[in-house]
Amino acid sequence: MEHKKVKTPIISGKNIVKTFGETKVLNEINIEIYDGDFTVIMGTSGSGKSTLLYCLSGMEQATEGTILYGDRNITGASEKELTKLRADEFGFVFQKTHLVSNLTLYENIVMAGLIGSRLGEKEVKERAKELALQMNLQDAVDRLPSQTSGGEAQRAAVARAVMGSPAVLFADEPTGALNKANTKEVLNMFTDLHEKGQTILLVTHDKEAALRGNRILYIEDGRVISELMLSEYGKLPSGTSSCGNDLHERSDDTKNLYTNDDREKKLAAWLEGLGW
Ligand SMILES: Nc1ncnc2c1ncn2[C@@H]1O[C@H](COP(=O)(O)OP(=O)(O)OP(=O)(O)O)[C@@H](O)[C@H]1O
Ligand SMILES: [Mg+2]
Repeated sequence: MEHKKVKTPIISGKNIVKTFGETKVLNEINIEIYDGDFTVIMGTSGSGKSTLLYCLSGMEQATEGTILYGDRNITGASEKELTKLRADEFGFVFQKTHLVSNLTLYENIVMAGLIGSRLGEKEVKERAKELALQMNLQDAVDRLPSQTSGGEAQRAAVARAVMGSPAVLFADEPTGALNKANTKEVLNMFTDLHEKGQTILLVTHDKEAALRGNRILYIEDGRVISELMLSEYGKLPSGTSSCGNDLHERSDDTKNLYTNDDREKKLAAWLEGLGW
């Protein structure tokens, strides 16, 4: 029998409504984000993806409804409490890196750790070095953001976002401004983080980016209208035996291609069904 891991919701939104003036941008959304998942939100421009991410992460207050972080109700929390929650528990990556332009990539990463200040300065610097290595930034780390590629700068922004070991990493179109090669490098960092257990909520237009997730939600006119579960990126789809000789003999790369090909088809068919 298939063994299913029981997942715990880390963020729960119940009947979330967000209005701007007369416009209902989020229309009674019910959503759970599970611990350890790489959840992706897709939908056309203006459907409410960013607004949903902002509400779930405490960057914006929902107009109606309830948002729980674990079992803590964050609805109606003060701006000060929300600022602390975001700083202590969450990491953020946006389309623009918002790196400090007169600090090197390394200094930007260190600064994030010092502001969070859960670690001492020495530990912050060590962790920043480790993250820079993990993000494959060893050659660019001592340069200013203006002297790096879009991909390097965005990888530094990802390093900065996870510096404080956030419970949830939120990303809104993190590859929106990147070319194909840089997109792939940044997405590989998200995959690595997720494989190490990082909970991720990613908003994207990009199929390539969405393909890295294991659960994809589709939003239209402020409602979640569909959900697609995928196997883990680069891993065997559930129900497929990993003991088959055939697969054992493939190189890692071929194996990934084989399984991701399958996931890609599933995603493409799902999106087509939604009129994407
Ligand atoms: N601060 C605001 N004031 C008024 N309207 C807003 C505000 N923020 C967003 N909206 C509107 O809410 C709707 C949803 O916006 P949102 O940014 O969530 O969409 P999105 O799905 O992220 O779109 P995109 O893919 O273009 O980023 C849009 O019609 C937008 O114009
Ligand atoms: Mg948006």
